[in-house]
Amino acid sequence: MCGIIGYIGGEDAAPILFEALQRLEYRGYDSAGVAVLGRSGLKVHKRAGRVDELIETAPKRLRATVGIGHTRWATHGEPTDANAHPHVDAAGVIAVVHNGIIENASELRRTLLADVEFTSETDTEVLAHLIAAQPEAELEEAVRAALLLVEGTYGIAVIDQRQPDRIVVARNGSPVLIGIGKGEHLVASDAVALIRHTDQVVYLDDREMAVLGAGAFRTFTLDAEATEKRPVTAPVSKTAYDKAGHADYMHKEIHEQPVAVERALRGRVDRRFATSHLGGIDLSPQDVLALRRIKVLGCGSAFYAGLAGAHLIESLTRIPADAETASEFRYRNPVIERDTLYVAVSQSGETFDTLAAVQEIKRKGGRVLGVVNTPGSTVARESGSGVYLHAGPEVSVTSTKTFTSTAVVFALLALYLGRIRDLGPADGARLVRALEALPGQIAEVLADEEAIADTAKAMSVASSAFYVGRVRGFHVALEGAQKLKEISYIHAEAYPAAELKHGPLALVSKDIPTVVVAPDDELWDKNMGTISEIHARSGPVVVVTNSPKRIPGIDARVTVPTTEPELQPILLGIPLQLLAYHAAVALGRDIDKPRNLAKSVTVE
Ligand code: G6P
Repeated sequence: MCGIIGYIGGEDAAPILFEALQRLEYRGYDSAGVAVLGRSGLKVHKRAGRVDELIETAPKRLRATVGIGHTRWATHGEPTDANAHPHVDAAGVIAVVHNGIIENASELRRTLLADVEFTSETDTEVLAHLIAAQPEAELEEAVRAALLLVEGTYGIAVIDQRQPDRIVVARNGSPVLIGIGKGEHLVASDAVALIRHTDQVVYLDDREMAVLGAGAFRTFTLDAEATEKRPVTAPVSKTAYDKAGHADYMHKEIHEQPVAVERALRGRVDRRFATSHLGGIDLSPQDVLALRRIKVLGCGSAFYAGLAGAHLIESLTRIPADAETASEFRYRNPVIERDTLYVAVSQSGETFDTLAAVQEIKRKGGRVLGVVNTPGSTVARESGSGVYLHAGPEVSVTSTKTFTSTAVVFALLALYLGRIRDLGPADGARLVRALEALPGQIAEVLADEEAIADTAKAMSVASSAFYVGRVRGFHVALEGAQKLKEISYIHAEAYPAAELKHGPLALVSKDIPTVVVAPDDELWDKNMGTISEIHARSGPVVVVTNSPKRIPGIDARVTVPTTEPELQPILLGIPLQLLAYHAAVALGRDIDKPRNLAKSVTVE
């Protein structure tokens, strides 16, 4: 899971590679490197650490018009200078950057490459030696022959100093796209890397390769059959990659939520029939009537958003719905039913486990709907039908606006399905009105930032925190705990509030705060009971609620506006983002790039 960039054309390649690596850094940031083909042959500059450090330490003489670059998130081998990409063969003529995992790397090291001396612990170095070992004269043929020996996933870019007029690229399971410029071509793992140069791109499919020259490119399969690809316009906006005066992307993206939600709703609300229109879902009313179950799949925050979405769908449609992590689902040999709708949730649309779950469902004849933010991404393309979030690119590793937009898209989906099933027009209209009011209400929550920041500062001294909630509040608690641990590194765990007394209460003390998510609903009194239990053990309590009611003895509270009960979790989740954010700021954390994490996990 890493970022790849390559350039061939008339410009100086190194600065282009460096700039693209900075844009790609959110995909992995423990090490980075470039390789260029200059007049004196192949030159590699790589090191552990951030892209900025790579640029600062770059030798002056990297002039070349062909090159490849990489930003890494370690899977095989620690983040060290030696393990950073590009990797080269023993003669130092071939350089490879790679995203993915070569599953038979150790076997290849033992067998075909037994005589080779390796300089790193990576699976990628195996590729460099394997390509060098092929008898084929043309680089593309050598790469193709090597890939036929490889098991696993890859997006790769390869250069060879003996053939400086080309970059060879290939894809199997990890995204690769070609950017088409005037007299130049680029390759990248992500359209973000290309925005300074071109918006015309070609997405490679699995088991597909390409040879790029400055003036032309051609694509073919691993079986050497030529393929016809048509360029499409990459859906990336230049302004999304500017912090617009915010200290970091996370802050910017939290504050973009009113607009993001407005965009998720735009053109999709049907007041006349009190329902929603979702262009890409490809489900006729007859299909909806025949549905007997809905299964939502995703990873990380996408999974938590899916849990909230499944709950909402079940409550509005009375169709049984649940969510499961994509990784568990794909490996437990799931029963795929024809009357189940499978919903794959992914911000990036590239998460490997989510994609693998989609492929498994489709292989077994199931129907998949993607809920995805990145247009043209693999999950979006492979799902067959879907709903885009339209939240705009999310750069910070931790997801905020896309979590909220996913919840809103689930509300639209639930409304559509519900209005075909048992949800009456009055309830439909009630939800339509509430959805339309959400952007303004989110802005109201955000206006409370300073008070939330004070609470966060107080919480930041804790080494551990609990988050609890019941039913609608529980999924909010799960995501709240996830946010806190991801960016502040404070250990945080979420529990259904009633579970507190079945274990976690043993830890509650004056040093461990509990955040209680308490919507003003039928479970209010139960939540007040939970707060008393915590108080009895001297535990500090922070309450997030929409209720104006007095709650005695608590340490802090955030009160959000009231919406319809089904949508209340969306508003209750926003202060928890700010809580995590400001706790992390108070602790001086690297907000957009939390340690050990990456935005898009394109490996298992
Ligand atoms: C990574 C990110 C999370 C994200 C998850 C799923 O773990 O750090 O923020 O929720 O992947 O990503 P996806 O792109 O599929 O939503």
